[in-house]
Amino acid sequence: MTPMPVDTRRDAAAVAAHLLRLSPAARLSRWHGMLSDLAVNAYAQSLARRKSRVRLLAFRDEAGEIRGLAELVLRPEHDEAELALTVEDAWQGAGRGRQLGRAAIAAAEQLGVRCITMQIMPDNAPMLRIARGCGAAISTAEGGDVALARKTCRAG
Ligand SMILES: CC(C)(COP(=O)(O)OP(=O)(O)OC[C@H]1O[C@@H](n2cnc3c(N)ncnc32)[C@H](O)[C@@H]1OP(=O)(O)O)[C@@H](O)C(=O)NCCC(=O)NCCS
Repeated sequence: MTPMPVDTRRDAAAVAAHLLRLSPAARLSRWHGMLSDLAVNAYAQSLARRKSRVRLLAFRDEAGEIRGLAELVLRPEHDEAELALTVEDAWQGAGRGRQLGRAAIAAAEQLGVRCITMQIMPDNAPMLRIARGCGAAISTAEGGDVALARKTCRAG
């Protein structure tokens, strides 16, 4: 179950299929709002369009379907990246999210990214654990409904 790089355009349909399989609760945690299938599909297509700034890592099941995904969206200067993880409900709780997070951070460091941010709902205990476990500092603006995790990367 090693996370492997995904070709943002060639594997676009598999990425969209994974995101569309996310449960309502997972969609809410991922996007901080309820996205319809149409909106999830549009989001998946936007990843393919932003190919030069998007790096994806996934773990797949035995049939080759993507069941967990790490999305790194790089700033134009490639010095910072935003990270988001998704693991389908039936595959959660077995260390895959943590593994995807670590692999994505290692990939970002190889690209020379200096800082990785993650936007996490404050009640998202597994994602907060993953972020903290990776050494990210967590902050929440007063009254804010999203926690910001910032991970400073190893130099070069
Ligand atoms: C967040 C998510 C990716 C985690 O994936 P996962 O495969 O279930 O995560 P893991 O099994 O690696 O567990 C991560 C940590 O959370 C802990 N954990 C798991 N479920 C938990 C729960 N219900 N409450 C508290 N901690 C929990 C695990 O013990 C583990 O901690 P450890 O590494 O210290 O042992 C997954 O729940 C998901 O896709 N959620 C919906 C989308 C989302 O919220 N994405 C994040 C947006 S940034």
